[in-house]
Amino acid sequence: MKHYLQFSDLSADEYAYLFERAALIKKKFKSYEKHHPLVDRTLAMIFEKASTRTRVSFEAGMYQMGGSVVHLTTGDSQLGRAEPIEDSAKVISRMTDLVMIRTFEQTKIERFAAHSRVPVINGLTNEFHPCQILADIFTYIEHRGSIQGKTVAWVGDGNNMANTWLQAAALLGFHLRVSTPNGYELDEKVATTPNGMGAGSYETYSNPMDACAGADLVTTDVWTSMGYEAENEARRKAFAAWCVDTRMMAAAQPDALFMHCLPAHRGEEVQAEVIDGPQSVVWDEAENRMHVQKALMEYLLLGRQS
Ligand code: CP
Ligand code: NVA
Repeated sequence: MKHYLQFSDLSADEYAYLFERAALIKKKFKSYEKHHPLVDRTLAMIFEKASTRTRVSFEAGMYQMGGSVVHLTTGDSQLGRAEPIEDSAKVISRMTDLVMIRTFEQTKIERFAAHSRVPVINGLTNEFHPCQILADIFTYIEHRGSIQGKTVAWVGDGNNMANTWLQAAALLGFHLRVSTPNGYELDEKVATTPNGMGAGSYETYSNPMDACAGADLVTTDVWTSMGYEAENEARRKAFAAWCVDTRMMAAAQPDALFMHCLPAHRGEEVQAEVIDGPQSVVWDEAENRMHVQKALMEYLLLGRQS
């Protein structure tokens, strides 16, 4: 049994399979062709933080594959009344076939997985967001072909998305450049767990313009992630120069793409002209969450399909 708790849980070969499979699943969806490999399977989705894309993409995706879903939140389950995560894992995994969790600390999802009888998928933690990077790289491949050897510029917070980009760069062989304000650097110890993969394999830039120069992909995220709202005001000040604008996009390759996992704040981490401009692929990125996660769920439950 395989869990998907961080990007490094799958190999480059497994990603190659998933990207191909997701393309096929997407093609079938677009032509209204049925794809029902998960009839009678149930996905439990546990949300301890808010979501639009993750909920819709997993829920719609599971129904489209013939399965069904159970939606739980902290507020409407015993998780919010201090039932131990280990007990919750034992119970939920006796009644369902697959579990997706969005929560705070990575250790929480690891504890759940350690006591689960079924595969567990990380739908975002403070440390990682592997399903999003899976969709982002699939989107890059759709638009530009292989990401191997390309240069990705990360502008902004050294957060769960940045950590996951680092794991992906080490695994799939592309260059990562990271520009964060002082005090908000990527935590290499977190990003390179569990085996140190990716340590030192990225470059840091104090000026975001330098990180973007010649990049094939420029990407960013909110200044304040969920769970860090108390730091909002301090972050607003610290991140003021980390807004992806038309100057940064002009410094990148002429055919560079812009990505953002969404939700976005125009005028903060990105200028409206960039996110709503011709180089932005944010809507494809969001849609592709569903297609790649369908491939992922099928793979975790049924293995490779020929
Ligand atoms: N990108 C992403 O995970 O979006 P949601 O928070 O809406 O799920
Ligand atoms: N870094 C953001 C991503 C939201 C999808 C957060 O954790 O809130």
